[in-house]
Amino acid sequence: MPRLTADQKHRVHFTLNGRPVSAVAENRMLLTDLIRHELGLTGTHVGCEHGVCGACTVQIDGQPARACLTLTAQVEGADVRTVEALAPAPDRLSALQAAFRRHHGLQCGFCTAGILMSLDALLRDRPEAGSDEIREQLSGHLCRCTGYASIVEAALSAAEEIRKEEVSENV
Ligand code: FES
Ligand code: FES
Repeated sequence: MPRLTADQKHRVHFTLNGRPVSAVAENRMLLTDLIRHELGLTGTHVGCEHGVCGACTVQIDGQPARACLTLTAQVEGADVRTVEALAPAPDRLSALQAAFRRHHGLQCGFCTAGILMSLDALLRDRPEAGSDEIREQLSGHLCRCTGYASIVEAALSAAEEIRKEEVSENV
């Protein structure tokens, strides 16, 4: 079998924000580069580019993942979500996004997309999460501006909203 080199290309198929994607990428291409530069979704930010800051966090099969550490070949067949998919409609924010706005959970916004994707995954699985669990989830994210307290408040408020929505859906 011929040896693959980094500058050779491959075709990758995956779902991005609910839509099928088929893209050609260099073997060494990172998911951040594919999403931002080839597919034009620039909501996913890039900070450190080596897995430390969390700015590039997306969801892969429902779990938060560092897009700057993910090769495009690794998402073959996967379900990838970026921050562009969070709002349920163009004129509506998700409960988490709305809570960030209410509680001033962002300032410059550089870290925000990654944090939203992490907290969205947590609260989808565990809307009963308390501040310790939320802080644990935030431990993989660096924010230079907020001091984190307003982000935790926003997440707690969103969790309460999500629990209320679940109760009203089950009545
Ligand atoms: Fe990926 Fe910092 S850009 S973790
Ligand atoms: Fe500026 Fe977090 S809001 S880095």
